[in-house]
Amino acid sequence: VVLSLTLVLLSYLAGSVSFAVVVSRLMGLQDPRTFGSKNPGATNVLRTGNKKAAVLTLLGDAAKGWLAVWFTGMLAAHFHLPSLVVGASAIAVFLGHIYPIFLNFKGGKGVATALGVLLALQPWLAAATACTWLIVAYATRYSSLAAIMAAIFAPLYYLFGGDVAWDFDAVICLAIALISAGLIARHRANIARLMTGKEGRIGGKPGAH
Ligand code: G3P
Repeated sequence: VVLSLTLVLLSYLAGSVSFAVVVSRLMGLQDPRTFGSKNPGATNVLRTGNKKAAVLTLLGDAAKGWLAVWFTGMLAAHFHLPSLVVGASAIAVFLGHIYPIFLNFKGGKGVATALGVLLALQPWLAAATACTWLIVAYATRYSSLAAIMAAIFAPLYYLFGGDVAWDFDAVICLAIALISAGLIARHRANIARLMTGKEGRIGGKPGAH
């Protein structure tokens, strides 16, 4: 139990490291919490026009999600811990990103982090979900809509791919569904903007949301 709780806590702490803020600071860019959507995430960092910073943010936030779940999964397998611990670690790193202890609990929307989590849980699931994001993003140029659609499809892919492409685990399925629900809830402002036609598009005019 102590090991399980430690792993979940470490996942939360890893999630709390906001790469949007760290990368922007290191590269001397404006803090992403002060412009655009004010969201500390790769999409908003891209609004500075600095693609490299946006890619580094995406990679960093995805890497922490992957690392937390991979590390927990490795120890869980070694010590025969239940999949509940892996599911809890997945949720914890995601929650760390959206409610980071280092930033007064004001974090991002968890898209890149969730992708990293999926990669650690099941690479093919991550690939299918990332493709969904890319297709919607390419077709609509809305990063937020792409994330929402990918979040809807991820648990369904896991459910229907289970026992075909991977061993289905109900606890992991639930964890993915909860992360998706949290991710969509974090996009409330984006959904309102999408419905009123005010959401900024990828590569759209600077200063937009
Ligand atoms: O990565 C978050 C994305 O889905 C939306 O970000 O900055 O447009 O609110 P943003």
